[in-house]
Amino acid sequence: MFEQDKEITIAIIISTGLMIIFVGIIIAAIVKYQRRTRKYLQEMSNLKIRYQEETIKAQIEKEEQTLNRISQEIHDNIGQILSLVKLNLNTLELSDCDCTVKNKITSTTDLVGKAINDLRQLSKSLNSQHLSSGYLSDSLKTELEIMNKTGIYDADVKVTGEEKPFSPQKQLIIFRIAQEALNNIIKYAKADHISISLIYFPQLLDLFIVDNGVGFNHTIDDTKEPKQSGTGIENMYHRANLIGATIEIKSVIGNGTSVHLSIPVN
Ligand SMILES: Nc1ncnc2c1ncn2[C@@H]1O[C@H](COP(=O)(O)OP(=O)(O)OP(=O)(O)O)[C@@H](O)[C@H]1O
Ligand SMILES: [Mg+2]
Repeated sequence: MFEQDKEITIAIIISTGLMIIFVGIIIAAIVKYQRRTRKYLQEMSNLKIRYQEETIKAQIEKEEQTLNRISQEIHDNIGQILSLVKLNLNTLELSDCDCTVKNKITSTTDLVGKAINDLRQLSKSLNSQHLSSGYLSDSLKTELEIMNKTGIYDADVKVTGEEKPFSPQKQLIIFRIAQEALNNIIKYAKADHISISLIYFPQLLDLFIVDNGVGFNHTIDDTKEPKQSGTGIENMYHRANLIGATIEIKSVIGNGTSVHLSIPVN
């Protein structure tokens, strides 16, 4: 009888042990499966992010190529034709002309000269090679000079701290973000004052573009991306993402808009 009890106990112990091992194996398999699924999902999400980044990069490159072509056309073609027009006007013999004709030709020559200068500046602001070399503040100053010349705006650039150069690609992306903010001011803000501030910290550049215009309702959803009609602001966020920067847009109806870009310096 005692022997039989012992055998039953041993059988129970062995079967319990086997059961524990079996359950252990099942748990380990489940954990392994979950880990593998998590890793797979993580890889898929990384791949998706990389794909999105590559798409945006390709889109930006295509845009840059188009802008460069327009810049070249303006510089080489239209610029050259206007220079020839100016040359022709300058070679006109005016000594026998009456005063009105002389004045008209002189003022036309001046206007053509002004158009040549404005187009040269426009060509520069479209050309990526020009924009990505030199300091960011200089490119922004040139951009604001064009706006100031319209007589509508009083715009200025203020630099605080020691200005540091960025890599050409990064500088171009920052400039294009600022350019979109300025384009929006021209199109919608009805502002008369624009201020750009570049505040350099050892590891960070804070760039503010502020207008005193009409403002707008700027809504941000959970993905931190705005829902607006055009693609300009959306592209600003995508571009900022590419260079590890963040954007904060604050706008108050009737009280202007501020675009704050925070860019890591290295
Ligand atoms: N500085 C600003 N002042 C007033 N409204 C603005 C300003 N910036 C943007 N907006 C508003 O935000 C909207 C979205 O701007 P966004 O740049 O995304 O598109 P868009 O300029 O209309 O088109 P796109 O940039 O694609 O040509 C504009 O339609 C405008 O109503
Ligand atoms: Mg826009």
